[in-house]
Amino acid sequence: MKFPRFEMERMQSAWEHKVRYDLSESGVEALTLEEITRDPKELLRTPLGYAEGVGREETRALVASFHAGHAADDVVITTGTSEANFIALGTLVSAGDEVVVVMPNYMQLHGVATALGARVREVWLREERSWTIDLDALAAAVNARTKAICVCTPNNPTGQILSAGEIGAIVRVAERHGAWIVADEVYRGAERSAEESPSFSGRGERIIVTGGLSKVYGLPGLRIGWLVGPPAQIAAALEMKDYTSIAPATLSEALAQRVRSASSATSSRSTRCPSSIASSATTRR
Ligand SMILES: Cc1ncc(COP(=O)(O)O)c(C=O)c1O
Repeated sequence: MKFPRFEMERMQSAWEHKVRYDLSESGVEALTLEEITRDPKELLRTPLGYAEGVGREETRALVASFHAGHAADDVVITTGTSEANFIALGTLVSAGDEVVVVMPNYMQLHGVATALGARVREVWLREERSWTIDLDALAAAVNARTKAICVCTPNNPTGQILSAGEIGAIVRVAERHGAWIVADEVYRGAERSAEESPSFSGRGERIIVTGGLSKVYGLPGLRIGWLVGPPAQIAAALEMKDYTSIAPATLSEALAQRVRSASSATSSRSTRCPSSIASSATTRR
């Protein structure tokens, strides 16, 4: 596998701990350990053995609870959304396949598809359409060789949110050609309006949704993510995960279970959000 250089991530990793002001961060202000742990002593008693590879049943059930049509068994806990994305394409795509990527994009899925030897077809969101998806352009890019359509909603960097109608239309295009959809929903919940954006989950048979705690929950340092999909993909994901990370970090997973209640107990997500992802069209992590 030959990976193209992930320019934006290299830039971010090189500078984010050196600069005084970071205008490129896309998550909310990070929570402290104190804010999510009412009983640190309990954590001190956590045995630091390997965690269960697929993730704890309780963590998976929690993730399933906000992915319609899914139960705990349809969820794998991963090391960040990054690992979930990597595995999602890694289990689907082979050299010679085509992968459609909606652009502009964070570029991880684009790079992974390229490394896997796929031909990447780009479908661009354009400013003159207020960044809405051009469904005709998408339909024209998908064909019998398309293994996956990669979307990010809410989109990084435009902030564009796919409506339920647009999601339905994308699913129909994919179904027409037997293609999978890999929907990176790591920004779902970061909306400026009160309404949470619609999800691809529960909208079809060949859909993998990825997400994690890095953005909306302000916990990128935990490196907890998830992959939600049908049983055969979950089994394939676990086999690949044996090579990538084996299991989630034990302490991170123990902390992850406290997050939903802790984040509502501290302050509202919207007021914690220093800058909405909707406010800029510059790619950022
Ligand atoms: C769209 C998108 N997906 C995935 C990631 C990586 O997320 P994580 O930190 O959960 O691995 C980022 C990080 O900026 C992102 O913007």
